[in-house]
Amino acid sequence: MTDAPILEVRDLAKTYGARLGCADISFDLWPGEVLAVVGESGSGKTTLLNCLSTRLAADGGSIVYAMRDGSRRDLATMPEAERRFLMRTDWGFVHQNPADGLRMGVSAGANVGERLMAIGDRHYGRIRGTALDWLSRVEIAADRIDDGPRAFSGGMRQRLQIARNLVTAPRLVFMDEPTGGLDVSVQARLLDLMRGLVRDLGLSVIIVTHDLAVARLLSHRIMVMKDGRVIEEGLTDRVLDDPRQPYTQLLVSSIPQA
Ligand SMILES: Nc1ncnc2c1ncn2[C@@H]1O[C@H](COP(=O)(O)OP(=O)(O)OP(=O)(O)O)[C@@H](O)[C@H]1O
Ligand SMILES: [Mg+2]
Repeated sequence: MTDAPILEVRDLAKTYGARLGCADISFDLWPGEVLAVVGESGSGKTTLLNCLSTRLAADGGSIVYAMRDGSRRDLATMPEAERRFLMRTDWGFVHQNPADGLRMGVSAGANVGERLMAIGDRHYGRIRGTALDWLSRVEIAADRIDDGPRAFSGGMRQRLQIARNLVTAPRLVFMDEPTGGLDVSVQARLLDLMRGLVRDLGLSVIIVTHDLAVARLLSHRIMVMKDGRVIEEGLTDRVLDDPRQPYTQLLVSSIPQA
């Protein structure tokens, strides 16, 4: 960990007309840190993640991002083209539904290679080599490289989506329920894989999950959301073993302990 946060969020808020998405969100994310955002359906988790990743414009507050060169930039005032470049290079976004994060009409190799081409690599052999390497890292057999995601199972699609996101060596990865919709054994395998990659690559991650077992396994810190606001925040073990807020206690007690 270095001595400056990679992301500094202050008083972030988003409303949809009269409906509250999220409000009063403030936190720092440190390099190499995995932050889990948990809470019931409708508590504002996806809204927060989309605002942080600038896929959705916040109504208020600030998000300051530490660039690779060390400069600190407010994402709200960053030109669109520069934000898009960050999304293609420095950041990853893993969607709950792999179809939202993959190009379903092209091969697995192209799904991974495309992100490399987007950052200027034009060497076909090298791109294919890197794609093969990443497919093997997410445990997809080399002979599947020319298959499209439609020929993959749900778990394989999710692993492909992860490879597509990580191939550009991002520094910050956003994940929205990456293991939702997968059956339990596939989930466990994927979690194991994600944990290894996050550790090996020293990624900073913000992961939205309603599954406290996922948060326990992957995260260093947890933020608990309710009705659009953060009601409790702390180190993962502290929050899960000694929850302070009645709502967090309820969440923890309703989940079977791993
Ligand atoms: N596009 C939208 N238009 C209007 N209201 C929205 C929109 N998206 C979200 N909301 C509202 O914002 C609140 C937070 O929704 P959000 O999707 O962020 O919750 P969530 O915690 O991700 O829930 P889930 O666990 O079900 O995915 C909810 O009241 C929701 O109805
Ligand atoms: Mg959501």
